[in-house]
Amino acid sequence: MSTMQSPAHPLAGQRALVTGGSSGIGAAVARALAAAGAKVVVNYAAAEDKARQVIDAIHAAGGEAMAVRADVSQEDQVQAMFSTMLEDYGSIDILVNNAGLQHDAHFPDMTLKDWRRVLDVNLTGQFLCAREAAREFIRRGVVSELSRAAGKIVCMSSVHERIPWAGHANYAASKGGISMLMKTMAQELAQYRIRVNSIAPGAIRTPINRSAWDTPEAEATLLSLIPYGRVGDPPDIAQTAVWLASDASDYMTGATLYVDGGMTLYPGFRTGG
Ligand code: BGC
Repeated sequence: MSTMQSPAHPLAGQRALVTGGSSGIGAAVARALAAAGAKVVVNYAAAEDKARQVIDAIHAAGGEAMAVRADVSQEDQVQAMFSTMLEDYGSIDILVNNAGLQHDAHFPDMTLKDWRRVLDVNLTGQFLCAREAAREFIRRGVVSELSRAAGKIVCMSSVHERIPWAGHANYAASKGGISMLMKTMAQELAQYRIRVNSIAPGAIRTPINRSAWDTPEAEATLLSLIPYGRVGDPPDIAQTAVWLASDASDYMTGATLYVDGGMTLYPGFRTGG
């Protein structure tokens, strides 16, 4: 273990960017990375007040963080965000490519606008942020006091990189794309000691899927898809992100960790087949 790290603060001295860090899974990831010792840039697209709440919570817990606005689908805004981060924090060690959204529609009614917006944010946004991070990781190289890797990229995918999802063709396609983007980056960037992995969350209690759990009837239907018998909470994912960003996972690259209470285990076959 290198000098700055401790079991309680495995990310001490490191600098992390969490896209879409103002709510849901992203907010929990930002807080967990800060608790693990990283300085965190909390990216948000519009909700400045929510980003501010995340920053305030991190500061109250003794951590360091700042909020930076950028629409991750826009190249100029992504580049401006990285410039701000590199100026203020000196470099970047961890990128959590988390920003994502849903614009659901029955397939015959899906508009090109809805298709493009979801692909632009969920997939192109991950490409644009990962490219900027990779450039800085390669320029700087390994700093052995901080980490065995020159940089770590964690892509927030979904069980829907594997499970087809009626009514969500744009979203499922974006997550399927993330699967191959992540693996290709992992293969290509390993030579620079850059690790790239994904987390594929199942149903996590956040605003993106509120209608799936906010009534007892909806939650019961959702639970029929989750063998472990509970809806996930953001910290379930945040702890996985901390581990993937730390040297505890130093030999792991190109992997997708399904954190889904068994949603990808074909729950229909528990009683059938
Ligand atoms: C979606 C949620 C959904 C979950 C499981 C996630 O990727 O964003 O809306 O509840 O997958 O289906």
